[in-house]
Amino acid sequence: MTEFNTVLLENNAGIATLTINQPKSLNALSSEVLSDISAAVDAVAADTSARVLVITGAGDKAFVAGANIKEMLPLSPEEGEALSKLGNDTFSKIANLAIPSIAAVNGFALGGGSELALSADIRIGSTAARLGQPEVGLGIIPGFGGTQRLSRIVGIAKAKELIYTGKVIKADEALSIGLLNQVVEVEELAETVEKLAKAIMKQAPNSVAASKEAIDKGIEMPLADALTLEAKYFGEQFAHENQTIGMTAFVEKGKPEFK
Ligand code: CAA
Repeated sequence: MTEFNTVLLENNAGIATLTINQPKSLNALSSEVLSDISAAVDAVAADTSARVLVITGAGDKAFVAGANIKEMLPLSPEEGEALSKLGNDTFSKIANLAIPSIAAVNGFALGGGSELALSADIRIGSTAARLGQPEVGLGIIPGFGGTQRLSRIVGIAKAKELIYTGKVIKADEALSIGLLNQVVEVEELAETVEKLAKAIMKQAPNSVAASKEAIDKGIEMPLADALTLEAKYFGEQFAHENQTIGMTAFVEKGKPEFK
């Protein structure tokens, strides 16, 4: 796959792994890192063999410690808004990928790092994970989707508590509020994420993609419209050979080999 300066991208038997690779700055998101993430996600979207995207951080300390504070210090309001737009456009590309994504949160996921994890469909943390939105302590607000995605995932009251206080929480607390889906020992993180990716890859890919789209589009709609959308996508599944493959395998007590 394509080479980038600040991130690594590999595709191992359908599992695309994007590693933010700036361990000296705890994988802080400079505009160059954001542009590399954006280009890498474009490459994943164009790679028809990629079935799941895994996002993680290089080194043993951080997933991503946030937007690059040194780069942000001199910004004007207009430059700040442009940076927020770059971050939001980049993370929305991840959220809108047709394939599912998993954040493997291997350490600090603060500010823009928490927001990167929030753009994934599922977050698995190691016991070393530390999550938070410390922006108000820097005189700014979350700018890469935190005010919106955090409240959608953990609820408005918890999101406000976390954002207003800037407090950094440990993995077990993140698990208890639904910010992490699962917490495992540090040495088990990669294997756990791989197993989860493989479990998803056993399912009908068109059905996984349609489920993702129905959930993500539906949550923005009134319930009645969202249920109409679900019925449409449900019906569309019957036009795909995987529906015959899946149901025939059940009836014949075999294992489906999805296309
Ligand atoms: N930006 C730039 N550099 C950063 C960084 C960041 N967000 N986080 C860490 N680094 C750098 C440090 O400056 C340091 O570099 P030097 O060796 O050149 O000084 C290096 O990474 C190692 O960091 P520390 O020495 O601070 O490591 P530590 O173990 O003592 O502390 C930490 C770890 C608690 C994560 C601490 O680094 C920290 O608090 N980082 C900042 C976290 C933060 O506030 N993130 C939010 C940023 S704002 C944002 O993200 C806005 C948005 O929504 C878009």
